[in-house]
Amino acid sequence: MKAQFAVVAGDGIGPEVTEQAVAVLTAVGAQHGHEFSFEERLIGGAAIDAAGTPLPSDTVAACRTADAVLLGAVGGPQWDDPKSPIRPEQGLLGLRSELEVFANLRPIRVFPELAGASPLRPDIVSGVDILFYRELTGGIYFGESGIDEGGAYQVMRYNRHEIERIVRMAADAAQTRRGRLTMVDKANVLEPSRLWRTVAAELIAEEYPNLAYDVVLVDAMAMYLVSHPTEFDVVVTANLFGDILTDEASMITGSLGMLPSASVGASGPGLYEPVHGSAPDIAGEGLANPLAAILAAAMALRHSLGLEKEALAIESAVAAAITAGLRTADIAGGGPSVGSAEMGAAVIEALS
Ligand code: IPM
Ligand code: MN
Repeated sequence: MKAQFAVVAGDGIGPEVTEQAVAVLTAVGAQHGHEFSFEERLIGGAAIDAAGTPLPSDTVAACRTADAVLLGAVGGPQWDDPKSPIRPEQGLLGLRSELEVFANLRPIRVFPELAGASPLRPDIVSGVDILFYRELTGGIYFGESGIDEGGAYQVMRYNRHEIERIVRMAADAAQTRRGRLTMVDKANVLEPSRLWRTVAAELIAEEYPNLAYDVVLVDAMAMYLVSHPTEFDVVVTANLFGDILTDEASMITGSLGMLPSASVGASGPGLYEPVHGSAPDIAGEGLANPLAAILAAAMALRHSLGLEKEALAIESAVAAAITAGLRTADIAGGGPSVGSAEMGAAVIEALS
């Protein structure tokens, strides 16, 4: 098949890891007889510097017409002035909103060889396989905000439709997995969480009576993720809670550098990015772990192009590179490590 990727590499280590993801996609495309093309556009701080805005209109246009969008990372200290009204993160939030990718899938899976790289005990993390569904285009991230003499505020608001569509997607996924869905909220305090609880309970009772469904408060969930993470299957939650819990959950796998994510909507191109940020402290040194970006590219093949076999080929190649002992610094535990390019090359090597 022919497929077009929009590539918005962004800032910091974004370009280094995205370069490896593009190389892996090119290799897998060639092997399976596909014609993949890539169109690069600016986003984030790089776009602010070049065009004065974190999300130029030609970037949005290229992303809209692509089959899938590969994103690196946005942000960095040079654009971090809290008083500046323009921030790199607005580029990413704006793109998620423009593409209406309301569901952010973040799989947390432990490679057996990396169980020792987690700060948690191997007996706690072994066998963890959680799929987070983070609501991505609503809630406090997009709520009305302002500054007045009294302080600053930002509103958390959800409507039934926003809750239903993400809970339904998560429930569908749970049915193809171990049949367990956990909804995480703060219903003991927040009104929008109480709406989540009502809407989700009704929908599950009506459409998914066979799912093992439960609800957990977000503070307790923070604790359970480090005490008994193997118990969870699919977890669905609001934007801000999902942001925080998935960074926490990444430590189960040993490194944030391993975690991919897919953001999808009802139709249109999906947005694929590593969960990690721009890591300005190591940017430009070629040391960053490219596996999250590479695994995100695999998710693009699966979710936007329907190329399951090719997605699995990339995931197996990543596993093979890990099994062969290759480690970037973040997962090396102080032992010998390789750079981004060597890790990318090892994955490509393992593809064949
Ligand atoms: C993420 C990031 C973003 C978020 C930032 C960079 C805006 O932390 O994708 O998790 O908060 O959603
Ligand atoms: Mn985050």
